[in-house]
Amino acid sequence: MNKKDKVLVIDLFAGPGGLGEGISATTDKNGKKPFDIRISVEKEPSAHKTLTTRSFFRKIRTMPKGIENYNLYLQGKLSREELFAKFPEQSELALNETLEGPKALGEDNKLIHSRIEKLISDHNGPKVVIGGPPCQAYSLAGRSRNAGIEDYKAEKDHRNFLYLEYLKVLSIAQPDVFVMENVRGILSAKINGKVMFPQILKDLRKPGRVTKIKGVPGYKIYSLVAPAENPNNPQYKNSSDFLIRAENYGIPQARHRVILLGVREDLGRVPQTIEQLQQQVTVEEVLTDLPPLRSGFSKQKDIQCDWEKQILNNSKVITKLLTKRFGEESVSTLPLTPIKGLTRFSTKKTNVKPKIPSHIKEWYLDCAPNNVLNHETRGHMTSDLLRYGYSAAFTKLNDGVSPKSRDFPVELAPEHDNWNSGSHADRFRTQAANKPATTVTSHISKDGHYFIHYDPQQCRSLTVREAARLQTFPDNYFFEGNRTQQYVQVGNAVPPYLALKIGKVVLELLTT
Ligand SMILES: C[S@@+](CC[C@H](N)C(=O)[O-])C[C@H]1O[C@@H](n2cnc3c(N)ncnc32)[C@H](O)[C@@H]1O
Repeated sequence: MNKKDKVLVIDLFAGPGGLGEGISATTDKNGKKPFDIRISVEKEPSAHKTLTTRSFFRKIRTMPKGIENYNLYLQGKLSREELFAKFPEQSELALNETLEGPKALGEDNKLIHSRIEKLISDHNGPKVVIGGPPCQAYSLAGRSRNAGIEDYKAEKDHRNFLYLEYLKVLSIAQPDVFVMENVRGILSAKINGKVMFPQILKDLRKPGRVTKIKGVPGYKIYSLVAPAENPNNPQYKNSSDFLIRAENYGIPQARHRVILLGVREDLGRVPQTIEQLQQQVTVEEVLTDLPPLRSGFSKQKDIQCDWEKQILNNSKVITKLLTKRFGEESVSTLPLTPIKGLTRFSTKKTNVKPKIPSHIKEWYLDCAPNNVLNHETRGHMTSDLLRYGYSAAFTKLNDGVSPKSRDFPVELAPEHDNWNSGSHADRFRTQAANKPATTVTSHISKDGHYFIHYDPQQCRSLTVREAARLQTFPDNYFFEGNRTQQYVQVGNAVPPYLALKIGKVVLELLTT
């Protein structure tokens, strides 16, 4: 790679852009950012809007008044149209990058493929394809849901075959390197009783064999975390060698995802693995400086003093119930009574000193906006508020282990057929302060039961911003769309800080 060369990046199934954010932030030895995303394909409108706003932000951040105007937008003092109009060249580039609108691989191939062809014919330097086909049918959760569908046939589920669309792009772009992310379920998913993963690897090694496009080069597929025994012919004993456990790499979340690194055979390079961090990052370390908030009522009028009364009553019930289990002395140390005057959303930063560990502090806070974004709570049913308070308090007393359904007293049991069966044992899960979070999934958009804030006095599920912190999105990353859509976007993303580490490995591969 020539010093001046930019690396052309093609981002597929881009979501809100987590993978692209980390890759494009990767710097070389001279502090320059060589990765240049030129096309991002995303079909969901709100994620597409987020992606475009972010692409635009990247283009204006070093321009005079760029950050200033972006901040005005974040504060609601400038509309998106007004902001984009102030930087017409950059807005055109951003819109062009995200194809002027949501587009679907498989449906809009004519446009997508022709754009990619044009980009690569105009480009001399290295090329990289990032993003993974969302094989929801492979995902473990998907499988248990599908099991309930009569006549469900995995081989007829078109989502299984989105990876063929991926192979088509590989065949057209013939990148030097590709990074393909997927859920853990891809390792064990079966079609017609046959485990698919070895076949997927085989296809990725020779995309042209599947797409019947001539002259497509072959690829070697590497793990980013396990060194290959024979690096020139990488084969791995266990398919789980491709699994990245994000909590071991400085991410405050136990997110386990498969990431495959494809290196074009003629490149003749062997990638490094990404470096583990000894210390795990905890939920409290990355959330404690965000404004405290209260939850709301979903089924009754949301009046602040009613909420305070409710939490006060709950605190008495919780104290009594937990005293039986943990003893009076421990329970008496717990703050459970409501904090007066909490609101349901806040854009105002607190004076609380961030506890964010040094390796990642700059990443979150670089160019931080003046206000806190996407930080608003949801309403919950009154009965759930009691369960949330109980779960958060229990977790605090139980050294960060959230209660299982069997740990809930009968008077708190929800009317749920499966409550005692064990299949929903984690139904009300607190994200313990002293550990990395469990996986932030798009389920967080449905209800907050698996994502309860560790502070019983706030008695609520996590906000979009808190989920975004657990996913390592910088504080200036703005999620467009309504709150439900924002949760989905955050839950779907690759943690950008992990992507930054992947970017470093890819850059090293491309640097001679
Ligand atoms: C797991 S998310 C991707 C996350 C993304 N790589 C990131 O790091 O933020 C998968 C995305 O693919 C999008 N998608 C699904 N089918 C698609 C298709 N046929 N064409 C384009 N995008 C699609 C979904 O809307 C979703 O946002």
